[in-house]
Amino acid sequence: MKVLISDKLEPGCASILENKGVEVDHKPGLSPGELQAIIPEYDGLIVRSGTRVTEALLQAGRRLRVVGRAGTGVDNIDVGAATRCGVIVMNTPGGNSVSTAEHTFAMLMSLARHIPQASASVKTGKWERGQYIGIELAGKTLGILGLGKVGREVALRGAAFKMKVLGYDPYVPRDELERREVQPVSDLADLLARADIVTCHTPHTPETHHLISEKTIARMKDGAIFINTSRGKVQDERAVFEALTRGKLRAAGLDVWEEEPTSLDNPLLNLDNVVCTPHVAGVSETANRNIAVGVASEILRVMRGEKPKALGNPDLWPRLTHLR
Ligand SMILES: NC(=O)c1ccc[n+]([C@@H]2O[C@H](COP(=O)([O-])OP(=O)(O)OC[C@H]3O[C@@H](n4cnc5c(N)ncnc54)[C@H](O)[C@@H]3O)[C@@H](O)[C@H]2O)c1
Repeated sequence: MKVLISDKLEPGCASILENKGVEVDHKPGLSPGELQAIIPEYDGLIVRSGTRVTEALLQAGRRLRVVGRAGTGVDNIDVGAATRCGVIVMNTPGGNSVSTAEHTFAMLMSLARHIPQASASVKTGKWERGQYIGIELAGKTLGILGLGKVGREVALRGAAFKMKVLGYDPYVPRDELERREVQPVSDLADLLARADIVTCHTPHTPETHHLISEKTIARMKDGAIFINTSRGKVQDERAVFEALTRGKLRAAGLDVWEEEPTSLDNPLLNLDNVVCTPHVAGVSETANRNIAVGVASEILRVMRGEKPKALGNPDLWPRLTHLR
């Protein structure tokens, strides 16, 4: 079997495959034309988010059996075309959940204690001790929207910080949330009214598009903190900006943006009460390693004719009897 890795990836992935006798080429940064020219040689393709796996590429890959996405979303893969071409699509969800939850908490701690501003001030020779008086997290109410892999990790950290943890997720049974020491709240407005901090961990769907809007912000406590490390389009940035400027929101931590990269014209970037990062919550050395190891293991699983843990096109699997 011969596998192409077409995006930058931890070397651990190639080593695991090579140790099992798989021939691996690691060629990040190829143009779509270059990729299409060499893809007929390969049985497997591993991508992160950089490579666009189009119908044309899949059709050119006459030997392709599997496309592995090292990471969570498969938005860069034409999953429908892969199914038509009989190519398995699989991913490695969960490898960066802890990193994303820790980044969420890093943002929260930064906002609670004005760390970026105080650091910048000391570095310019100032000693403004009265300027950076923050808040304690202990005793505050943390409202989590979306209790999947990341939301649950955030809940654990909230409890460790002695916060009261509320969770809103219409798709997770109440008793499962209670087992995780999250107080389930079935009404979004109720959670928003009670939380000192609101943090988003839902996917972006038609239902969650602008979940954080003028209307939902109005339901929040005055002076609430808002954090989003999920997907940018879950927030209406205009409404978030407006709430921050008039003090309805005390502060916001934003890792994700309605348009990425966000523009320097985005007025949120001028606000001192915003801590921002460029969609890196899920990126860490540890997460990168987890993802690289995870995708290699899943490729080996496919080679053995076993079903991958996370299939992007589950409808295809029952038709692939030749693999088993
Ligand atoms: N910033 C980053 O680098 C980064 C890294 C990892 C994940 N993410 C994003 O974080 C989000 C969460 O990731 P995950 O791995 O936990 O996903 P997940 O699928 O495990 O969990 C998402 C949860 O949201 C819930 N949900 C769906 N619609 C909802 C709604 N209308 N209201 C409340 N809850 C709803 C689902 O029931 C599910 O439990 C996703 O958007 C993911 O893309 C971002």
